[in-house]
Amino acid sequence: MARIIAIGDGMDEAINAASVILALGRPVAIPTETVYGLAADATNPAAITSIYETKGRPRFNPLICHMADLDMAEQHAEFDPLSRRLAEHFWPGPLTLVLALKPESDIHPLATAGLDSVGIRVPVGFTGDLIRHFGRPLAAPSANSSGKISPTSAAHVDGDLGDRINLVIDGGACEVGVESTILKVEDGEIHLLRPGGVSVEDIEAFAGVPVQRPKIAGAAIIEAPGMLASHYAPNAGVRLNATSVGRLEALLNFGNTAVAGQDDSRMVLNLSPAGDLAEAAANLFDYLKQADATGAVAIAVAPVPDTGLGEAINDRLVRAAAPRDAEGPVE
Ligand code: TXA
Ligand code: MG
Repeated sequence: MARIIAIGDGMDEAINAASVILALGRPVAIPTETVYGLAADATNPAAITSIYETKGRPRFNPLICHMADLDMAEQHAEFDPLSRRLAEHFWPGPLTLVLALKPESDIHPLATAGLDSVGIRVPVGFTGDLIRHFGRPLAAPSANSSGKISPTSAAHVDGDLGDRINLVIDGGACEVGVESTILKVEDGEIHLLRPGGVSVEDIEAFAGVPVQRPKIAGAAIIEAPGMLASHYAPNAGVRLNATSVGRLEALLNFGNTAVAGQDDSRMVLNLSPAGDLAEAAANLFDYLKQADATGAVAIAVAPVPDTGLGEAINDRLVRAAAPRDAEGPVE
């Protein structure tokens, strides 16, 4: 089991303890507003290697580099005007921008998988304070074994990686609950590489230009190599757009309509009885884990609208439901 330090116990203790582990070149699990991250010094190859080893993650899958603020990000990446506007508006927050890596950046190529671009995000709260204190960017994928459900609580992290890491910083339940939205600006056009915690509608309303989704299904997979098929996989099967539920299944409902068979099912959880997509996103991974823990053969999930944060929710659900032998990199 890892040592768990709650932020409430004193911000300084949490920051100091995390900084000690980071300086040793070891990864530490940290809370962000999206999901818990497994963070390590992005400039230290041994530290980055231990992220990949701890997660069992393929090394050709680049990691997001987390920065304290836009000033720090500009030391490492080239910002076109539109990317800078997006950063100024949405940071700190659940948005990752893929940008050209500056040649003078000391981010290690192991973190970017050798690409000449880098995914950068400025998170809300503890992680920002930690990076400011530590003074270097932190590479951090979600703090789960590769291919498994992303963690939204310290207990999730401890249950999965607790025997492989030294320290988990407990910041409570993640407010957003799904990973950041990943965008790449090219020739003044915004391309969506991964739907996430900032909705496409909010990005378009701010930017005043449409966000381009991949023209060919799966094209984003090549751009964001982590975006592949089976992922977020519970042990149970996952059945989408369910309008009924069987006795051996657990149900994730959405909205206030009862689902046929729910009274005889293993478990009924409602992502948001009020039909609020932000609430559903915040509950998604925890409820998938709870439903899985019942030993149900499958998790039946009621339809979730594909608008706003629903796009990110459905993206994660589709991958949770994908065949488990689907080939390709996972996070
Ligand atoms: O909310 C989040 O983004 C969380 C928290 C911990 O910050 N992090 C996260 O990181 O989801 P990770 O490593 O699990 O996902 C990184 C995604 C992958 O799909 C990867 O392929 C893509 O970002 N990515 C990273 N750098 C990239 C680059 N230079 N070009 C294209 N895609 C990139
Ligand atoms: Mg992940």
